[in-house]
Amino acid sequence: MTDALARLRASLRKNGWWRTLTLIPRNILFHLTDFDRKYGTNTGMQAEDDAGLPQEHEGYEGAPPRLFHRIVRSLQIAPSRYAFIDLGSGKGKALLLASHHPFRRVIGVEYNARLNDIATENARLYQHPERKVANIETVCGDAGAYDLPAGDLLIYLFNPFKAAIMERVLANLENAIRTEPREVLVVYQNPTQRKLLDAAPFLEPVTYREYRTKRFRKMPIGRVAVYRSRT
Ligand SMILES: C[S@@+](CC[C@H](N)C(=O)[O-])C[C@H]1O[C@@H](n2cnc3c(N)ncnc32)[C@H](O)[C@@H]1O
Repeated sequence: MTDALARLRASLRKNGWWRTLTLIPRNILFHLTDFDRKYGTNTGMQAEDDAGLPQEHEGYEGAPPRLFHRIVRSLQIAPSRYAFIDLGSGKGKALLLASHHPFRRVIGVEYNARLNDIATENARLYQHPERKVANIETVCGDAGAYDLPAGDLLIYLFNPFKAAIMERVLANLENAIRTEPREVLVVYQNPTQRKLLDAAPFLEPVTYREYRTKRFRKMPIGRVAVYRSRT
């Protein structure tokens, strides 16, 4: 309550009465739908999240829940066939969301030890009635050197790295598929390095789609490219 009053005073000082009044409904909506407030987790962006990390990696940002579920549903797959692997899993938000779908395994690989510890704690804290996968596995390490597990895989990438790391990640994936041919789906959200995946001989493009909000003037909310391993 004191916190709300302090924010109200700050807004009055900065924006004046009229603007503050018009901002109230938006702030109430934000408050009611805030993921971390609802689930007691810590998945939001903080200034210190990217401190001291290699330049080739993209900054931390957690997966947006509605869009994430829309993407998974659009794949029309039987999740139990696949291990879901988030390469660049940050604080584990996509892992928490993936646990709503009955994947064979849910695994995150994150380079930044601090973010990975937060992901492990988030996996423990997250109690959602839709959660179907109890065991979320969090691995601290480089996505380009990760020893991928056996069986069919759904690799999820939410704009985690720039070209240099992506090239290593693709070489690692190609090696895993050659060692054990199987179905691998790659779901690449905000695909800034899409050209590299388009050119990968062991992958075939399945779809490329721009997602928009269903309401609110159909605003663009993300682009997703999906690939499948060539057989
Ligand atoms: C945009 S965030 C995505 C977070 C998560 N996938 C989600 O959707 O909630 C990208 C993450 O990739 C991580 N990352 C960057 N380079 C990496 C690497 N070489 N190996 C593993 N993780 C890396 C960053 O630290 C960051 O946390």
